[in-house]
Amino acid sequence: MELGTVVCKDETPNTTIFYFVATKESKVKRGLFVQTKTREGLLVGRIEEITKTNRYFMQPETISNYETDINLHFPTDRWEFLLCKVYCLGILDERVRKANYPVSPGEAVKLAENKNLEKLFKFDEQGLKIGNVSGHALEVKLNLNRLFQKHIAILSLSGAGKSYATAVLVEELLNRTDEQGKVGVIIIDPHGEYSSFAYDENFSQKANLIKGRDIRIGIPHLSSYYYRLFLPNLSFAQERDLIKIIEELKKTEDVFGIKEIIQKIEESERIKQATKDVLIPNLYSLNSLRLFGYYDIPSVNTIILPGQASILDISEITNDKKKKMVAAYFLRELFNKRVKRKIPPFIAFIEEAHNFAPEGSSKENFSKNIIKKIAREGRKFNALLCLISQRPVHLCTTSLSQCNTFMFLKITNPYDLKHISESSEGITSELQRQITSLDVGEAVLVGEASSFPLFVKIREKKVIDAETNKSLEDECIEFLEKKENRKKDARDLMGG
Ligand SMILES: Nc1ncnc2c1ncn2[C@@H]1O[C@H](COP(=O)(O)OP(=O)(O)O)[C@@H](O)[C@H]1O
Ligand SMILES: [Mg+2]
Repeated sequence: MELGTVVCKDETPNTTIFYFVATKESKVKRGLFVQTKTREGLLVGRIEEITKTNRYFMQPETISNYETDINLHFPTDRWEFLLCKVYCLGILDERVRKANYPVSPGEAVKLAENKNLEKLFKFDEQGLKIGNVSGHALEVKLNLNRLFQKHIAILSLSGAGKSYATAVLVEELLNRTDEQGKVGVIIIDPHGEYSSFAYDENFSQKANLIKGRDIRIGIPHLSSYYYRLFLPNLSFAQERDLIKIIEELKKTEDVFGIKEIIQKIEESERIKQATKDVLIPNLYSLNSLRLFGYYDIPSVNTIILPGQASILDISEITNDKKKKMVAAYFLRELFNKRVKRKIPPFIAFIEEAHNFAPEGSSKENFSKNIIKKIAREGRKFNALLCLISQRPVHLCTTSLSQCNTFMFLKITNPYDLKHISESSEGITSELQRQITSLDVGEAVLVGEASSFPLFVKIREKKVIDAETNKSLEDECIEFLEKKENRKKDARDLMGG
């Protein structure tokens, strides 16, 4: 489809920028990919900006002379035209290379053909189909290896479509065949947004939903590392006494819990009373979290299965420490098992990643160290992270800088924009500006997954939401009705 003709303007055409005047009927849009011929081959570019001009309205004096009647005297509408500024991506051969010569003025500019865009973005027929190239009737097909060559971060302000895009990614991962290679998925889900996978008939076979209230960390096999991590205020001597007691219990008991540890400490003649007075309240407080039990739920060996997703729905856990303990324990156990090749390769999707791996340091950021560790070392073992966050500034910089693919949806906060541009090389000020004006459900991929910023209109998700959010009005009415019913039941009971 022909869009227009290259013109001379300012210092252009040069090797990075050219302008073209759009034909009257062409539907040019910002962000569209275009192609044009040069002596080196086919040049591909992207429309960066569109301006409207009309030379009848260039001189303020003319307008002031004619006031409103100028349209009656001259064919002004025929002189209105669109001028498009194109950023040149390069000459398309087997690879894309930088242009050495500019395009010639007068050359026709066409809409980039799909086959050329597929080549430009190295789309893979077997890849993840997460949507369309913005403005083009072309499916995005991301090669799995390239997308997850290392970790990925999905960042935007709240409500821009991160969780939606993540659900689409997960759908694509779950729908892969044996031949395409199936990866295991775990989702740390603080808002219960992914439970729909377990209720949708098309996905329920591939989804394993674990509710927060059922999650347990098994005490009998818990390594001493976790006692240090979860009880950060113990002194060295207190810690040593505790671990000794646990070692003794491990020798004599197959199954024991925190209560048994407490009992053993109380009975011990070796431990000083002062130490007991610290250990026992600390253990009681751990116990009160209702997180520790006789064995792990879910079992670490079955969380990661090829082509399956385990969803840890921790939305009903109100205690922040407990949420972090869950993430810390399961991520660390999975990573260790993966290092020993005991479980299949996996991708851990971490929603609200800034809560689990925050930038600041605190003894109670239980999950931060393991996320940093996986960020640094996970790639070698194909233990991969997808960090999802609406507050990139608060997300641990070490982990963020280990991501080499970024999916940005709309971000407007200047601090967040500054932070992400410092964490990733590919983010020019122009791209920052474009990120601020994305629509809901529109994303731009930058980094290893795509040679050039790839604007994607994320497709509709297939998984059907189990429960839609109720409106405030509906929920208030329902609440009253329930209360009335309970009253009535009570009256019936007493009367009858
Ligand atoms: N690609 C999309 N297609 C259609 N609707 C979308 C898309 N992305 C987001 N939405 C809508 O926007 C809402 C907010 O998206 P969500 O993913 O929850 O945002 P975030 O996780 O960034 O806070 C969704 O509930 C959905 O209605
Ligand atoms: Mg979300």
